[in-house]
Amino acid sequence: MTEHWDLETPEATPLRLLERFSAALGAPVYIKHDDYGPLSWAGSKSRKLRAILAAAVADGVDTVVMSGPAQSNSCRALAALARPFGLHAHLVLHGRRPLNPTGNLKITDAMGAEVTWAGNVTFPYLAAMAEGIAGEHRRAGRRVMLLPPGASSAEGVEAILHAGRELAQQLAELSADPVEVVHASASGGLHAGLWLASRLADSPPPRSVMIVREIYEDVEATYAALVDAALTRLGPECPRLAYGASLDWSAVGPGYGMVTGEALAAAQLLAYTEGILVDTTYTGKALGVLVRRAREGHSDPVVFWHSGGLPGFF
Ligand SMILES: Cc1ncc(COP(=O)(O)O)c(C=O)c1O
Repeated sequence: MTEHWDLETPEATPLRLLERFSAALGAPVYIKHDDYGPLSWAGSKSRKLRAILAAAVADGVDTVVMSGPAQSNSCRALAALARPFGLHAHLVLHGRRPLNPTGNLKITDAMGAEVTWAGNVTFPYLAAMAEGIAGEHRRAGRRVMLLPPGASSAEGVEAILHAGRELAQQLAELSADPVEVVHASASGGLHAGLWLASRLADSPPPRSVMIVREIYEDVEATYAALVDAALTRLGPECPRLAYGASLDWSAVGPGYGMVTGEALAAAQLLAYTEGILVDTTYTGKALGVLVRRAREGHSDPVVFWHSGGLPGFF
């Protein structure tokens, strides 16, 4: 028997208790396996992108443009997802093309996305370059959508809000009542969506572990704007919530993409107890904070949101 696969609607991802990891830490830890799924390990990014690209196709878009770091999970996920949606993807990547592409870049190449290398520029400059390239495509007669960094748009946030609700339902089925969800945060869509899901359900906000400092001029204000845009999109029947940033900056370390001892040790503990991988750029840093807090005596149940990003491991 074959099943019809709905490109627009993400499948529910598993939630389960990490028994051996929890025993090693002395605190119950659940994992939301949002690293599961098709499309080249697209992780939580695929939730945002599937919503955004479905809307783009409905609007007659034929070309999508996005910028990001060379090992961007979002850009790699876009390179893959553009294909089944029948779209041309043009990525604007930070730095220079390496001699031997690895990880995300290798997948991006395999998907045949068009890539422009931006050199060593700031994140805002990179975003401005992507705007310029989108303009060039428009002048060539294409119908273009310029995606924000990390696919963190109001649609993307709404897709994550659905994911947060999916988690709440799964927790209720397990009769689990965690004190917080711990996840890695960068462009803010994951934070904004999970923050909204928790606030709309009157449960504690997520612990959003920042893994990059210089992504926006004002991170808190940008995140607040994202929450606001999503609330506007949800319409007047949705209560207007007052956003308060709850960002954990303790794990950035020397900077984006730089491995920390804490992330490495946490990744090793998860691998050795459960046979599960995390990358050390995103999910490993969030897991590091979770481990540190458990070792400091916080023994309440928590959820680790595994958002994907595994190609970075290779
Ligand atoms: C694996 C992974 N986890 C978490 C995040 C953070 O999500 P967001 O950009 O929505 O803050 C990213 C962003 O690129 C990611 O690739």
